[in-house]
Amino acid sequence: MSEIDKNTQPLLEITGLKKHYPIEAGIAKKQVGLVKAVDDVTLSIRRNEVLGVVGESGCGKTTLGRTILRIIEPTEGSIKFHFDGKEIDFISLDKKALRGMRRHIQMIFQNPYTSLNPRMTIFDIVAEPMRLAGDYTEDEISDRVRDLIGKVGLEVKHLNRYPHAFSGGQRQRIGIARALALGPRFVVADEAVSALDVSIQAQILNLLQELKEEYDLTYMFIAHNLSVVEHISDRVCVMYLGRVAELSETEELFYHPMHPYTEALLSAIPVADPTVKNERIVMPGEVGNAANLPSGCCFHPRCRYAQECCRKECPPLREAAPGHFVACHFADSLKLNGIGELKIKN
Ligand SMILES: Nc1ncnc2c1ncn2[C@@H]1O[C@H](COP(=O)(O)OP(=O)(O)OP(=O)(O)O)[C@@H](O)[C@H]1O
Ligand SMILES: [Mg+2]
Repeated sequence: MSEIDKNTQPLLEITGLKKHYPIEAGIAKKQVGLVKAVDDVTLSIRRNEVLGVVGESGCGKTTLGRTILRIIEPTEGSIKFHFDGKEIDFISLDKKALRGMRRHIQMIFQNPYTSLNPRMTIFDIVAEPMRLAGDYTEDEISDRVRDLIGKVGLEVKHLNRYPHAFSGGQRQRIGIARALALGPRFVVADEAVSALDVSIQAQILNLLQELKEEYDLTYMFIAHNLSVVEHISDRVCVMYLGRVAELSETEELFYHPMHPYTEALLSAIPVADPTVKNERIVMPGEVGNAANLPSGCCFHPRCRYAQECCRKECPPLREAAPGHFVACHFADSLKLNGIGELKIKN
C-alpha cells in the first residue's frame, strides 16, 4: 500500500474481486469454458477521490463497476466500504441490508437515450428513488427534486416534460439528478459522457466535478480512453482483459507510464495541434478474448517489449514506485514514453 493509503482510510476496498461467467453448450448446458470478465482485481478508492478506469471495449470496466455495486454478484473476492468509521462487509449483506445501502452507492449510466423511462415525467424520474426508499413525504420529495434539477443546470419548468423533449446532454443531467436523489457517497459513472458531443462532454465533466465538491462524493469514473479521464481523475486505473495493468496518480501515469499498454493508449490520444508530432504506437493483433486468455502475461501477444518469460508467467500487480502499481515483469527496466515525449512540438 502507498503512504497515502496507509494514512487515510479508503472509502472502498476491493480485494481479489472476480466475476467469471460460465460458457454453457448443448441441451444439458454443460460448461465448456469460462469468461473471466473481472479477474482478481484489488484496489482501493479514497474518500472524495475520482478514480478513472480505462481500457478497451470488453476489458471488464462495466462488469467491475456493476460487481462493486452488487448489481451483478461477484464470483469471488471482498468488497468493503468504510462509512462513518464503520467497516461494511458489502458481500455479506443480505437483501434487506443491501437495499438500505443502495442509497449510499449509485450508478450513472452510459446511454442517456435508453436509461430514462420515456413514459415518466422528469419529476417522476428524479423522484422515483426517494419514493422507493419510502422515508420521504411528497413535500420533501418535491423540494428535493426542485433543488436537484437546479443543481444539474436545468429549470423547474422542465419537470413536467418527458425525456424525448431533451437533448443527450440534458438527459445526462437528469440521470445525474436521479443518481444524486438519495444523497449517495459513492457513484460509479459508467461511460457517463461517451454518448455526448465533445463540447457537451466538457460541460458534464465540469458538472460532475462541481457536484463532487458540493456533496462530498467519491467517483469511479469509467471511460474508453485516457483523454476523457485525465482532467476529472485523481488516480487512473488501466485495465486489460479483466485485470489491472497499471494504477497510479493521474499525472504520474501520463508522464511516467510503467506498463507498455498504458504507453500505447497514451500514444493514441489525438492532438488537435498540427505542429505537434504524434508518435502513435500500433499494437499488433486483436484485443484478447476474456473467454480464452493468453498464457503468461495476457498482454504479451500485443506487447512490443515481450520476452520469453512474458509468455509463461503472469506478472502480479506490484508497487513499483510509491503509489504506482503495475503488472509487468520489466516495468523497472523499460524506459517508456510519457505524454511529454509522445506529443512533441515540431
Ligand atoms: N452476462 C454475461 N455473460 C457472459 N459474458 C459476459 C457477460 N457480460 C459481460 N461479459 C463479457 O465480459 C467481458 C467484459 O465485459 P464488459 O461489458 O464489462 O466490458 P467493458 O470494458 O465495459 O466494455 P465496453 O467498453 O464495450 O463497455 C466481455 O468479454 C464480455 O463479453
Ligand atoms: Mg462497458
